[in-house]
Amino acid sequence: MTAVSPQDRPEPLRILVLSASLRAESLNTRLALLAERLITGSGAVVDRASLRDFPLPPYDGDVEDADGVPATAADLGRRIAEAQAFLIAAPEYNASIPGALKNALDWVSRLRPQPFKDRHALLLSASPSLVGGNRGLWALRVPLEHLGTRVYPDMFSLAAAHQGFTDTGDLTDTGLQDRLAETLQTFLGLVEADTRYVCLERRWYEFLGDRTGAPVTQRAED
Ligand SMILES: Cc1cc2nc3c(=O)[nH]c(=O)nc-3n(C[C@H](O)[C@H](O)[C@H](O)COP(=O)(O)O)c2cc1C
Repeated sequence: MTAVSPQDRPEPLRILVLSASLRAESLNTRLALLAERLITGSGAVVDRASLRDFPLPPYDGDVEDADGVPATAADLGRRIAEAQAFLIAAPEYNASIPGALKNALDWVSRLRPQPFKDRHALLLSASPSLVGGNRGLWALRVPLEHLGTRVYPDMFSLAAAHQGFTDTGDLTDTGLQDRLAETLQTFLGLVEADTRYVCLERRWYEFLGDRTGAPVTQRAED
């Protein structure tokens, strides 16, 4: 067997991990930090971000016409584009997407090239409730898939999250933590395969709107 020399090894995967809560004591930020630790442990590089870092006015076409896309949205778009994949840990508000997150998606979607297109994403949520914010993630899939993101089919939602963490930031339920670690591993494996070891023809049957070889789809760019 031929040994792979260090200079031939690919760069580690770069993963943006975004907490989509604005709260300082956010449960979703805690979940994002745990995901970051597990991802880093597997050798990938994490770019840690919080929606707090990207203050944005409500989307307004007149503001965009006058001033363009705000620098904070451009910064978020650049960080999405620089990563091979992104994670969002998002609260559920009224069984759907928090307004600040949807507003950020709307602003970033105005950038060209449109940064969400063809990026892989894994969705996480944490909530004190017994549903763990999972309905919000189903709602979040809609705009992301519309924008051409390859949203991983599996998601992770932590129910009763206010009681769900140890003092060191692990999950109190070790079985659940194993499940999170396994989900992250399989997700990273897919991202590596799809971004580093692309087959002759690259086709995701789950995303039928994207024709192989088509430069961009109308759906994802307009
Ligand atoms: C406006 C609003 C709506 C909410 N709706 C839901 C909901 O539908 N489902 C749920 O599980 N939790 C809901 N919650 C509770 C949040 O899950 C909880 O506040 C959570 O801690 C927010 O995430 P964070 O800790 O990351 O900020 C809601 C909270 C607010 C402020």
